[in-house]
Amino acid sequence: MLKVAVLVSGGGTNLQAILDAVDAGRIRNAEVVSVISNNPKAYALERAKKHGVPAVCITRKECGSKEAFDKALLQALKDSGADLVVLAGCLVVIPEIIIQEYRGRIINIHPSLIPSFCGTGYYGLKVHEAALERGVKVTGATVHFVDEGTDTGPILLQKAVEVKEGDTPEILQRRVMEEAEWELLPKAIDMLANQETR
Ligand code: GRF
Repeated sequence: MLKVAVLVSGGGTNLQAILDAVDAGRIRNAEVVSVISNNPKAYALERAKKHGVPAVCITRKECGSKEAFDKALLQALKDSGADLVVLAGCLVVIPEIIIQEYRGRIINIHPSLIPSFCGTGYYGLKVHEAALERGVKVTGATVHFVDEGTDTGPILLQKAVEVKEGDTPEILQRRVMEEAEWELLPKAIDMLANQETR
């Protein structure tokens, strides 16, 4: 049984997709053992609690320094017994000590087709604003392994999503979440939990 810790910062719709997929059997041989947020206001924490998943909030402010925050985050992951770390709407830059401890066992969902619209400064709505600004006809989402870079690790899954006439960043974000993110992240976890390739 693969133990999964999910790191969140916001609304938690990707977390919800994972929890629903486990319940529906679309993610096999895995369980979400912990949800960790850096944001006390993250609705993702409510989603975890409603689902009976242990949830903790670790903030940079409470820890007093970046080093203390990084160590607290690593310790929370170790305490959870997680085999796999999933970044689901997580806005924390994952510290080096965690990358080293969990190398090859951290995945992230990014709301574009990497290598487009990714890297420093490209997160949340900003990704979709950039895609609309460039005028791309197709965008999508990517699940990739996390390394020391920003959105630079090996790509695991991608799915394309059509950009439509009149799309606003909000409309496009929602379509990418519905048609790509919420499908890809559970699929990636199921693949890793069952040692399957594509
Ligand atoms: C979404 O835009 C997602 O693409 C990105 O973080 C945002 C919030 O996701 N990874 P969630 O609703 O908190 O899962």
